[in-house]
Amino acid sequence: MSDIQELKDQFDGYKALNLNLAMTRGQPADSNFDLSNDMFTMVTGEDTVTPSGIEIRNYPGGVAGLPEARELFGEMLGVKPEEMLLGTNASLMVMNQVLTWALLKGVNGSPRPWIQDNPKLMVTVPGYDRHFKLAQGLGFELVPVDMTPEGPDMEQVEKLAAEDASIKGIYFVPVYSNPTGDSISDENVRRMVSMKTAAPDFTILADNAYAVHHLDPNDKTVPLNFVRAAEEAGNPNRAILFGSTSKVTFASGGIGFMGTSVDNIAYFSKLFNLTTIGPNKVEQYRHVRFFQTIDGGIDGLMAQHAEIIKPKFDVVHKVLDAHLAGTGLATWSRPKGGYFISLDTAKPVASRVVELAKELGVALTPAGATYPGGVDPSNKNIRLAPTRPPVEEVEKAMEVVALCIKLASAEA
Ligand SMILES: Cc1ncc(COP(=O)(O)O)c(C=O)c1O
Repeated sequence: MSDIQELKDQFDGYKALNLNLAMTRGQPADSNFDLSNDMFTMVTGEDTVTPSGIEIRNYPGGVAGLPEARELFGEMLGVKPEEMLLGTNASLMVMNQVLTWALLKGVNGSPRPWIQDNPKLMVTVPGYDRHFKLAQGLGFELVPVDMTPEGPDMEQVEKLAAEDASIKGIYFVPVYSNPTGDSISDENVRRMVSMKTAAPDFTILADNAYAVHHLDPNDKTVPLNFVRAAEEAGNPNRAILFGSTSKVTFASGGIGFMGTSVDNIAYFSKLFNLTTIGPNKVEQYRHVRFFQTIDGGIDGLMAQHAEIIKPKFDVVHKVLDAHLAGTGLATWSRPKGGYFISLDTAKPVASRVVELAKELGVALTPAGATYPGGVDPSNKNIRLAPTRPPVEEVEKAMEVVALCIKLASAEA
């Protein structure tokens, strides 16, 4: 029997199992959410004034958020409370507000609104589809730069930023990147905050969604802080960090926030204040009270998340190693945190792998989703999202993925 026939027989064997497994979106599992269920009872009518004296049921308190919550989440982004602005329920919304105001008014210090310059943003590839869709939806032209194990390819970034004044910034994930899991090196942080840019208002939009999402609490990747490094480089307003509680407490049921210079906070507070008198202080106080009850605070909770998530990453690697190591058919990332593993097939068969897996009842992130416009020019990248299903399902799904990679490669 030929190799390909043997693979087809295995494929038919899996088909008979009628699997229904999903490894598509990076969502926490219900067991992750359960860790935060005490949130529901954290704030009562007995307790509506914060230690800083703010009545959470009423408007006053400022547009940047409760001092206690700015302090709490400032730790997550590695900035001071006064360098924090807490927005609405999710970080994408805060990023949207910053980008929209940048288009209409410019960022702090812009000579004119960005929209007048036919603005472009650099994005890293492979990268996060929602970054691409948001920026393109707002009208930005995207300029892809390669992601490397040390963060965005700085040779490309420096060259593009220096020669094109319509490139207004770079939008990427600095730590445990979606999807590769790569984190930026200190050296590349320094280069990015100090590089020469043709646009005087070039802005680093660093979506630090996974800043505290370490798989091993004893092996944390914490690169040089962008806000501190930008200040030291003499470009204090160049960097904005974003984050949220979506994969800490409840997904889209929490708080999105940004960390940047005090001047930038003042600038954006004025603009955000045009659209809201203030953020949801009840939600903010709920988080503040909740973390007071958790041993080790945010880090303590994240260590509990890691206990649930790490075995799922481990089983992905176990199956890939067992079935594909040494075959030359694929390479894959080994992140130390975050929510994703990125796999590249050697042959241009990513879309065929996703199609074959679907036939066997395993849903994967669409091939191409990690590139702007949903098109991966080399048709090789597949984003694996193991966090939502239970370990046994991740294992079964990955066996299917490994088989589909072999079959698609043999067909090609
Ligand atoms: C890099 C990155 N940023 C942002 C988000 C979404 O965050 P939020 O729910 O705060 O908008 C995700 C979710 O997958 C993500 O991977």
